[in-house]
Amino acid sequence: MRGEYARDVTEPEGFAARTMSAANAGMFTTALDRQAEMDLVRELRTWCRGMLELRPGATALDIGCGTGAELMELARLVQPGGRAIGVDANRPMLDVAGERTSGIPGVTVVEGEASELTWLESGTVDAIVCERVIQHLTYDPVLAVREFARVLAPAGSVAITDTDWSSAKIVVRDDPATTDYLMALFEKLPRPRMANRLAGLELSNYCAAAGLDVVAHRTGRLGNLASALLPGATDGIRAMAMTHLPPAEVDEAGRTLSAALADGRLEVTVDLHAVIARHPARDE
Ligand SMILES: C[S@@+](CC[C@H](N)C(=O)[O-])C[C@H]1O[C@@H](n2cnc3c(N)ncnc32)[C@H](O)[C@@H]1O
Repeated sequence: MRGEYARDVTEPEGFAARTMSAANAGMFTTALDRQAEMDLVRELRTWCRGMLELRPGATALDIGCGTGAELMELARLVQPGGRAIGVDANRPMLDVAGERTSGIPGVTVVEGEASELTWLESGTVDAIVCERVIQHLTYDPVLAVREFARVLAPAGSVAITDTDWSSAKIVVRDDPATTDYLMALFEKLPRPRMANRLAGLELSNYCAAAGLDVVAHRTGRLGNLASALLPGATDGIRAMAMTHLPPAEVDEAGRTLSAALADGRLEVTVDLHAVIARHPARDE
């Protein structure tokens, strides 16, 4: 049992650049598809698109495009004559986006790093979307946002959405004792393998440091994330627990989590933040 969980600790894999295996791309796709159906994700995406004021003929970028769901929406808004470019640093994820958008006019997908859009000339992009990517960056996020600012046209806008993992709450419905037990356990663990767990709270600061003006900010509580987490998430929690707790306690925690998930009583909620930022030049 221990060995099974240890695998997850010693072979970290996920959304961080170049860590996703082709074998697991299906699991990541399932999680993103479920999240795309969540009310807050839909609401924030619609709001961001509206704020970006996309027009036919425009060039739009989706940085860390994942399955390509939002890329398709951007493509629709810039047609006829526009371009929607999806960028992703994990080839298996980009393959999914490529397949799902194949044949849609104006769409291209590019394997690339958020902070290295060197193949794009400065000031040539009208709109940039970057949703739940900065949390995974393993370097200073300002480097990426500065690159967004560089490629952005003077009249362009950026929409960045991300998670504040410090706000995460685990609840087992109608079971306060188990809720307290799991929350106490959660507090004892090192934080999820998320490079920037406070990304959602820092978005305005990243934009300011990159020389962009934040013109709007919206936030909401994403819930219930439990069934839309990666299918392996409960094993991941067990794996982290294993390195910090005695084995008997780990097994107990694993059983409790799995049972609550299986009977639909596990609720995981977290705050999402979205900001819209522009070049200072735009309003001069
Ligand atoms: C949580 S997913 C979000 C996908 C999509 N934006 C959405 O909201 O459904 C994070 C995405 O960012 C990509 N990614 C992670 N690090 C990246 C980086 N440094 N540069 C570009 N893409 C990156 C991952 O491969 C993954 O597709």
